[in-house]
Amino acid sequence: MDPYLLGLRLGGRRVLVVGGGGVASRRVPALLDAGAEVLLVSPKVAASLEDLAAAGRIRWAARGYQAGDCAGTWLVCACTDDPGVNAAVAAEAEAQRTWYVRADDAAESAAWTPASGRAGDVRVGVLSVDPERADPRHSAAIRDAVVAGVQSGQLSARHGRRRQGGVAIIGGGPGDPGLITVRGRQLLAEADVVLTDRLAPRSLLDELRDDVEIIDAGKIPYGRAMAQEHINAALVSHAQAGRFVARLKGGDPFVFGRGAEEVLACLRAGVPVTVVPGVTSAVAVPASAWVPVTHRGVAQEFHVVSVHVAPGDERSTVNWELLGGSQGTLVLLMAVERLGAVAGELLRYGRSPDTPVSVIADGTLPTQRTINSTLEQVENRVAEEGVRPPAIVVVGDVVNVAAEIAVLMRDVTA
Ligand SMILES: C[S@@+](CC[C@H](N)C(=O)[O-])C[C@H]1O[C@@H](n2cnc3c(N)ncnc32)[C@H](O)[C@@H]1O
Repeated sequence: MDPYLLGLRLGGRRVLVVGGGGVASRRVPALLDAGAEVLLVSPKVAASLEDLAAAGRIRWAARGYQAGDCAGTWLVCACTDDPGVNAAVAAEAEAQRTWYVRADDAAESAAWTPASGRAGDVRVGVLSVDPERADPRHSAAIRDAVVAGVQSGQLSARHGRRRQGGVAIIGGGPGDPGLITVRGRQLLAEADVVLTDRLAPRSLLDELRDDVEIIDAGKIPYGRAMAQEHINAALVSHAQAGRFVARLKGGDPFVFGRGAEEVLACLRAGVPVTVVPGVTSAVAVPASAWVPVTHRGVAQEFHVVSVHVAPGDERSTVNWELLGGSQGTLVLLMAVERLGAVAGELLRYGRSPDTPVSVIADGTLPTQRTINSTLEQVENRVAEEGVRPPAIVVVGDVVNVAAEIAVLMRDVTA
């Protein structure tokens, strides 16, 4: 007989989990997400479960199963590696008519745990009708396909869903379409209008439905750009016309991204707004060139600096003296055209001329390139190589770690 699918609302209801190994480590967090009051019975448990117990999120009885443990529970999960214990737990649950799942024996289980996942405002569950013979990876693969399809908008059920309104300010990550967050991708797929930046992961726009209006607000350095006040006005007017607006930005919206200005503009106009954090290029672009912004024994701090105005410019609020005197990693954004002035300032305030510098252009994109140099040489090297924005400049000894990784990588891939 086919199983009867049900969504259990476990908020405040006690669930007994017997066993503290790998299966329990997977089940307990999901039960907690559903609001269950978890009682864990096991003499020993995995470290992650011990942490949950220490934090008071679950109750842990550090002993073996005892008859009577099922009393007062709504659901029982028997997941020890001893079939005899699991059978005893199941028998007690059956006798008191409580649903139970046996991790070791589907045929003896009163209920089966589906492969499940969240896609926006729906939870998807996939059960094989014959889990004894089916490969559980098959259910998981179907679940993954459905979740990914909904998240990307390729599986769309727009009719019948409650319409989303307002504006979502979405951090799109550094450029590789795989580096947007799941939530960002899902909200993008639901948008009626998308306002996009030049450095946002534009290849995702190709996946949108034909009726989605795409507005290019791209800011080309020193070139044509949609003024910020026009962007704000467009967000507000489209939202007020009843459309769901996605504002797709590069990196994280609140890291030199003017995202908060857009939030304020929406709120001042009474438009509901949400922010989806993004993977900032300040960290992701160095990582994509194997440069860790911190490294034990090398750098305990990193400073992220916008160089959209040069040192010495009256609009600059950056303390170059402090940065020159520190040993921390410097991550410089919007710095390519002002590298000479930056290097001069850092040398003046104490950084050594042979401090390693890495300039990473088009990070995470197929056109990514990295120029390695020193503080003294970097301006000339970048000019010789014709490096253009967008680029991240990393100053500090962490650049040497990337060189070490590169040598080892060659050996591993050879
Ligand atoms: C206006 S800032 C926006 C930063 C963005 N909000 C973030 O969190 O990554 C633009 C600067 O970010 C850096 N940047 C963004 N994406 C980049 C990429 N894919 N490769 C190199 N640098 C990038 C460059 O320094 C560029 O000039």
